[in-house]
Amino acid sequence: MADTPEVAAAHAGALPTDHPAHRMSASPYLRAARCQPTERVPVWFQRQAGRSLPEYRALRGEGSILDAIADPATAAEITLQPVRRYGVDAAVLFSDIVVPAAAVGFGIDVVPGVGPVAAEPLRSRADLDRLPVLDAEAHTPYVLETVRLLAAELDVPLVGFAGAPFTVASYLIEGRPSRQHEITKALMHTDAALWHDLMERLAAIAVASMRSQVLAGASALQLFDSWAGTLSPADYAAFVAPHSKRVFDELADLGVPRAHFGVGTGELLDQMAQVGADVVGVDWRVPLSAARQRVGAGVALQGNLDPVLCLAGWSAVRTAADRILAEGTQQPGYIFNLGHGVLPATDPAVLEQLTDYVHAYEPTYAGQHE
Ligand code: CP3
Repeated sequence: MADTPEVAAAHAGALPTDHPAHRMSASPYLRAARCQPTERVPVWFQRQAGRSLPEYRALRGEGSILDAIADPATAAEITLQPVRRYGVDAAVLFSDIVVPAAAVGFGIDVVPGVGPVAAEPLRSRADLDRLPVLDAEAHTPYVLETVRLLAAELDVPLVGFAGAPFTVASYLIEGRPSRQHEITKALMHTDAALWHDLMERLAAIAVASMRSQVLAGASALQLFDSWAGTLSPADYAAFVAPHSKRVFDELADLGVPRAHFGVGTGELLDQMAQVGADVVGVDWRVPLSAARQRVGAGVALQGNLDPVLCLAGWSAVRTAADRILAEGTQQPGYIFNLGHGVLPATDPAVLEQLTDYVHAYEPTYAGQHE
């Protein structure tokens, strides 16, 4: 069942032998991410560490989420809360996709109930000066300290992450959450040179951030391109894919699974796999069997329960979970998750029951498990 030390080392690249990725090598999450069969289906929830948990609200208080993230003891505890409560197969670092941009001094905060807000959005080449490349040890030592605390504590893999260049760019350019991304698309189409320079800078920041998280003890990575689904396939190919590809390429040597997530990305799933992802996130708009065709062989899938169904009670969740589990486990390489993040109004009891339900399911390929 467990990999030999040689196989584990090959999967975890050049990481030191005491890195958690070696110890966790046979965990259901890491095996599924490598398209290996597992005895049970691994499950975790995007935004599992957050507002739906009363223990989160109690610990978090009223201040900016960036302050909670900057306190390693608090951030580590918030990361552990859902792991303890639900028994999920992966922990996701409590941080945010705007943390690197905030840490290098761009001038961006996360406003409760709104999301990321920049007082002076990026509109010209001069604004690039507010976005120096991240030196993770110098700019975000608290993130690395949180990862180190978690690496010592966790017995499931820690998923480190970064925002993808496009999604982070959209916040920096719009200055606040946007439905249409009109200023972002205008910049992309009217000043391609500035656009590509900005994307290169954000790709370098994402690489520096994720690399440092793995070296500090994260065993997997996820690139969040949450709003990529707003783009046509042609614009994604021309303006986004080369930069996201660079992010995946520059992390390949670490040997940890790299997941790629977005919402409304049904028509982009092929490209999102082709940039080099090991795992592709799927939302509820695309059946997993169709997603499988689009990403091709050798890429694992993650998803794709509609988070809104979790507000409709257990019976709705179970019906959807039955279908998703049947589709997802047609072949090895499937991680159960929601198609987007846990909604704040979600009853934690539903996610607790869902975790148990997924764990009780016996995948048809279980017999292939060596
Ligand atoms: O549990 C986890 O998934 C780990 C922590 C995490 C957070 N943000 C904490 C957070 C992760 C992985 C993120 C990523 C993130 N942040 C994304 C990509 C994932 C996605 O949901 O598509 C995006 C787009 C952001 C930007 C962002 N941060 C938004 C849109 C918001 C919501 C604003 C609101 O209050 O409604 C945030 C704030 C945020 N980040 C919260 C949490 C737990 C909630 C607010 C808080 O507690 O202050």
